[in-house]
Amino acid sequence: MKEPFFITTAIDYTNGAPHIGHAYEKILADVLARFQRQEGRDVFFLTGVDQHGQKVQQSAEKAGVSPQGYVDQVTAKFRALWEKLGVRYDGWAATTDALHKECVRANLQILWDDKVPGTDRSRWIYKKTQRGFYSVRQEQFLTDKERGADGEFGPEWQPVEEREEENFYFRLTEHPDLGFDPKQWLLDFIDRRSAEAKPFVVPEFRVAELRNAVEKLEGDLCISRPAARLQWGIPFPESFGEGFVTYVWFDALVNYYSAVADRPGVWPAALHVIGKDILVPPHAVYWPIMLHAAGIELPRGLLAHGWWLTSGSKMSKSKGNAVGPLALVEEFGADALRFFLIREMNVGQDGDFSRELFLIRYNSDLANDLGNLVNRVLNMTNRFAGGAVPAADGGAEPEAEVRALWEATARDYIPLFEQHQFHTALERLFAFIRSINGYIEKRAPWKLGKSPEAADQALLRTSLATMAEALRLACVALRPVMPGSSERINSVLGYQPSGTWREELAWGGRLTGSKVAESLVLFPRPAPAGKAP
Ligand code: ME8
Ligand code: MG
Repeated sequence: MKEPFFITTAIDYTNGAPHIGHAYEKILADVLARFQRQEGRDVFFLTGVDQHGQKVQQSAEKAGVSPQGYVDQVTAKFRALWEKLGVRYDGWAATTDALHKECVRANLQILWDDKVPGTDRSRWIYKKTQRGFYSVRQEQFLTDKERGADGEFGPEWQPVEEREEENFYFRLTEHPDLGFDPKQWLLDFIDRRSAEAKPFVVPEFRVAELRNAVEKLEGDLCISRPAARLQWGIPFPESFGEGFVTYVWFDALVNYYSAVADRPGVWPAALHVIGKDILVPPHAVYWPIMLHAAGIELPRGLLAHGWWLTSGSKMSKSKGNAVGPLALVEEFGADALRFFLIREMNVGQDGDFSRELFLIRYNSDLANDLGNLVNRVLNMTNRFAGGAVPAADGGAEPEAEVRALWEATARDYIPLFEQHQFHTALERLFAFIRSINGYIEKRAPWKLGKSPEAADQALLRTSLATMAEALRLACVALRPVMPGSSERINSVLGYQPSGTWREELAWGGRLTGSKVAESLVLFPRPAPAGKAP
């Protein structure tokens, strides 16, 4: 058995409906999970929702429902969408689940009970009173960053008043009580991983950015909120005293661990898939230090993806420029959206989303190149071979070319997946698909079919066998990205997958004798522009 592969996504705030950015991340992780399953690894794929915190409390108040009622409604939308998109997870993390809350409190307790020798002071957590400017409107403390050019807090924050608040803090910086410098430890850890060629963050260009941010790290992390201003959170254990709830990140990060707390052998995570906005500090600073403090093994790595933009700016709930995936899925199917997002985005970079860009890809790659190929294979196998794929009978240069291009494509395909270069892998695969269409033009089976010559009949059999086998291979390669379409193509080709994925990806005339279906419309052309909703 190969090594286990525990993959997670960020858990989404349940303060609004999911958008393309959320869908992308879950699809990306699903593609990775499916790929690793194909590679024979023991995959556990975890996703879920982040249900506590100020934003959720405010959204619930606005909607006039209880916070739990509100998050239950929104959570159902997320789950329904993942179902529709074929996001096949093994575990679901919801931060209002009893086991999760217990784990968060147990974690606080462990850190609290780790005392400075000979004292009753915790090494990691301390209480402090802070005086600062508080925005009553936004219900948050303000820093100098929030001051306008004139040095004042703008009207969006008003009224602003000076307040004192007592809270608990988690040490991120060196302190005599700690006997340890978390910052230096983290830098050493990051460097060690890079030196071992297992960078803590991929794509690797983020490592330098992370190092920089850690070097500049100042101050500790405030991990509590007085219950007087935030109710919707996990209460601190009694030993901390009354009236505190957990800061949402000190709650949310624990999901990765709590969701598998009752499954021995799953932790540590092989990969946390997250957006670049939540890399530093939560996942790359707070989380490793929290785990280290609690004596828990660290995750193997973080994959930080970029953002989907609309007209140049980050798609987000709060900006109101979010595009919902549901309409596209209903119009074009889950696989079309999965394909677009994975083909178009260079993991780690940002990408533009628009319906126009989606339609360009859909029409050219899916309807034209792939959809057409499926139709031609079915149609010609029925017309010229009674619906059963013939055995290849010889072959020459054109056949050798198709096969050589497949071999070059297949050789690079898995390494590209391993390096998260999905867009390049798909680009290469679709170049292969186009080459099959080119091969069909060259052989023109419709001409060979009219010839009574034995040599032409042999060539006809060869060309039908070659195009069917090439399509089978392309469809096997597409499986992690477009699982539904891949299955439908298998089924119309009469192909029964067997053996490992790598074996399936080898050229081999596996369809000889297979009965194919009459036809399949996989990617119908959309209604002309203007008629579309
Ligand atoms: O950050 N493009 O939740 P969230 C790509 N609850 N990805 C995007 C995106 C966009 N336009 N907008 C958001 C949170 N995302 C926390 C996570 S994890 C312990 C807690 C990604 O709902 C974002 O980068 O704001 C993040 O990885 C995920 O969606 C959830 O974002
Ligand atoms: Mg966000």
